Amino acid sequence: MKKVLSGIQPSGQLTLGNYIGAIKNFVKLQETHECYFMVVDLHAVTVPQEPSSLREQSQAIAALYLAAGIDPQRSAVYMQSHVRAHAELGWLMTTMTSIGELERMTQFKDKSAGKDSVGAGLFIYPSLMAADILVYNADLVPVGDDQKQHLELTRDLAGRFNSRYGDFFTIPQPYIPEVGARIMSLDDASKKMSKSNPNPGSFIALLDSPDVIRKKISRATTDSGREIRFDQANKPEVSNLMGIYAQMSGLSLAEVEAKFEGQGYGPFKKELAERVVDVLEPLQQRYHEIRSSGMLEDVLREGAAKAAGVADRTVEGVKEKMGFLKG
Ligand code: TYM
Repeated sequence: MKKVLSGIQPSGQLTLGNYIGAIKNFVKLQETHECYFMVVDLHAVTVPQEPSSLREQSQAIAALYLAAGIDPQRSAVYMQSHVRAHAELGWLMTTMTSIGELERMTQFKDKSAGKDSVGAGLFIYPSLMAADILVYNADLVPVGDDQKQHLELTRDLAGRFNSRYGDFFTIPQPYIPEVGARIMSLDDASKKMSKSNPNPGSFIALLDSPDVIRKKISRATTDSGREIRFDQANKPEVSNLMGIYAQMSGLSLAEVEAKFEGQGYGPFKKELAERVVDVLEPLQQRYHEIRSSGMLEDVLREGAAKAAGVADRTVEGVKEKMGFLKG
C-alpha cells in the first residue's frame, strides 16, 4: 500500500484553509493509503510559543483530526516530538541542504521579513520537513499550495541522497487539490487565509460558532459587481468564496456558477454560510466529545508507536548508508 504523510503546526487556531487544503484530503486518502498524520510541534517552536498554548493547540489539532474523520484505527495520529527519528533525520537532512536552497524559500522570506532577530530553526525548517516525509518513505504528501516549494526541496534532497549513497528514499509527490489549494483571506483576496492573521475577520476558524461564521461570511469583501462568476484575475474575492462553496458542497465551480446565476452576492453569501455551518457544526460537536472523552492520550501513544516502528528503521538505514557505526 502506498504511504501518505502530512502534518499541521500547532501554532494558532486551525482555519477553513487548513481544512480544505489539507485535512479534507487526509480523510479521503486514508481510504486507500497507509497514512501518517502528525501535529508538527517541533516545527511550531521555530517561533517562540507560550508552553501552555503549545500544549492546548497540540491537543486541539489532534482532536480536530479525529473530529474531521481521521480514523486512528487506520491512520497513525501522533505528535512529531514523540517520534524521535524526526529530529535525528532532520539533522542529517540539514547537513545535505545548502544555505542557498534555504535562502530561496519564500515562506522563510515572508516569516523573517522585517524581524530583528530570526531563529536558526526557522531557517532550517524545510530540512526537518523533508525528514518528516522521507522518514516514512511517503509516496504522497497532501498539502496546500504554500507548501509546494518545501516539497520540491524534499524531492531534491531525496534525489541527492540517493545519488550520493545509493538508491534509498522514495521521491515523494505533492497532492494538492485543484480547487481550494489556496483559500484566501476574507478581507483581502491577495493574501492566503492564515491562522496567524491578527484580524479574526479574515479567516474562519474551524471552531468558530455558527453565528460567527455567518457574520464573517456576510462581511467578506467582494467587488462592486453582482455576478457570481469564477474569474481569479478579475473577481478574486468572489472566486475565492466560490471555491469554498464548491469544497463545502461537493459541487464543481461550473455547477456553483449555474446555481447562482442571476442572483446577487447577498443570497450567495447566505447560502455559503449555511454550507460551511453544515460541515463545521457536526465537526465541532465531535471535537468537544473527543476532548472530554480522554481518548486522545491513548490515540497519540499508539500512533507514535506505530510511526516510530517505521521511522526508526529508516534512520538506521540512512546512518548505515552514510557510514555511521552501528550503536
Ligand atoms: P501549516 O501548519 O502552515 O498548514 C497546514 C496545512 O494547511 C495548508 N494550508 C492551506 N491550504 C489552503 N489554503 C490556505 N489558506 C491554507 N493555509 C494552510 C498548508 O498548505 C498545509 O498543508 N510546513 C507545514 C507543516 C509540515 C508538513 C510536514 C506538511 C511540517 N512537516 C510534512 C506536510 C509534510 C506547515 O507549516 O503547514
